[in-house]
Amino acid sequence: MGHSLDRAVPGDVTSPPSTADLLEELRGYLRADPPAISLPPRLFTSPDVYESERARIFGRSWMMVAHRDQLAQPGDYLALEIAGEPVVITRGDDGMLHGMSPVCRHRMMPLVEPGSGNTQDFTCPYHLWRYRLDGTLLAATHMRGNADFDPGQCRLPAFAVEEWRGFVFVNLQADASTLEDHLTGVDGDLANYRLDDMVQISTWTEVWRCNWKVAVENSYENYHAIGFHPNTVKPLMTGGIDMEVHADSPLVTRLLTRTGEPMEPSVLPLTEEEKRVLYSFRMFPCSSLATFGESIAWISLIPLSIDRTEVRGGTLMPAAALEGADVEAIRKQTEQFTGVINTEDRLGLEAVQRTLGSRFIERGHLSPKEPGVLAFYRNLALALAAD
Ligand code: FES
Ligand SMILES: [Fe+2]
Repeated sequence: MGHSLDRAVPGDVTSPPSTADLLEELRGYLRADPPAISLPPRLFTSPDVYESERARIFGRSWMMVAHRDQLAQPGDYLALEIAGEPVVITRGDDGMLHGMSPVCRHRMMPLVEPGSGNTQDFTCPYHLWRYRLDGTLLAATHMRGNADFDPGQCRLPAFAVEEWRGFVFVNLQADASTLEDHLTGVDGDLANYRLDDMVQISTWTEVWRCNWKVAVENSYENYHAIGFHPNTVKPLMTGGIDMEVHADSPLVTRLLTRTGEPMEPSVLPLTEEEKRVLYSFRMFPCSSLATFGESIAWISLIPLSIDRTEVRGGTLMPAAALEGADVEAIRKQTEQFTGVINTEDRLGLEAVQRTLGSRFIERGHLSPKEPGVLAFYRNLALALAAD
């Protein structure tokens, strides 16, 4: 049965859909036969929807933010923003990872700017309160005269942090359910890739001027390789752009792309099946990991604001495959190739973003080549609109 797109009259701005209407449309993707149509355009621009996403999605989801090689030494830290929330992750003197809100408990000064580095503690630039790498207060100057202030009770709010097979995940909900429970299936699928023995040969961060969902829905289909990536990704799709989609749970979707030619590994014990498949898993809301022969790429598409998305990623290879190799040359080549593909996606998706204010846009029909997109919409509906 076809799905009608005639709910809204194109060009009619007298009655933009209410948030309740938008959520009702989103609920359509929860049906057993979801409509093969794209999201309502207002869903990308509604401040109400964004606020709901901050609370219901980014305030309580696991997100991949780094590889352990970026947080290898005690004192290493990584600072970023997740949907408007400052976040810092540290490797403590105890060797453990800690996640916390790096905003001073005195009068709200940021303790660290987004980026990475190595430090012994975080000293607030405003009045010099100091915090340890685990978020507890180390010292507060000139505070002895305030009897109400108990330094032992003062600490930065903690976030949940977990390392899974070398990937560092954060969840702003401190008592979030264990990440590993969600990833046991993926762990089995990727056993032959020996993720624990991989090293990250390059990592990068970019900002794309688009809503996070514009970027994420794009990552659930190969269909766009023919338009955005004719000379980069498309030639790699030797078996065609079809994807097998396995929506295992509301959190994990596996996307498989068959290659025409097997990719022969140099060190990994891949099966014949694994040599012929580009395996990728998407973890709702915004993280993913994909195999390509022996290398693995991770990427997360994290909102900075309603119309800007931080794209963080990296490429890994088995340590054994790099022995005796010119690692610098491999790194350069990887960065160059990733950079070109990212620019192709960024320019295209920023162009999509610029249309979102048009009065004439409306929901469009999806191709049978885009089942992954519907899997993402379903997860979005579960997070925002399920009863
Ligand atoms: S705001 Fe940080 S010490 Fe005052
Ligand atoms: Fe792309």
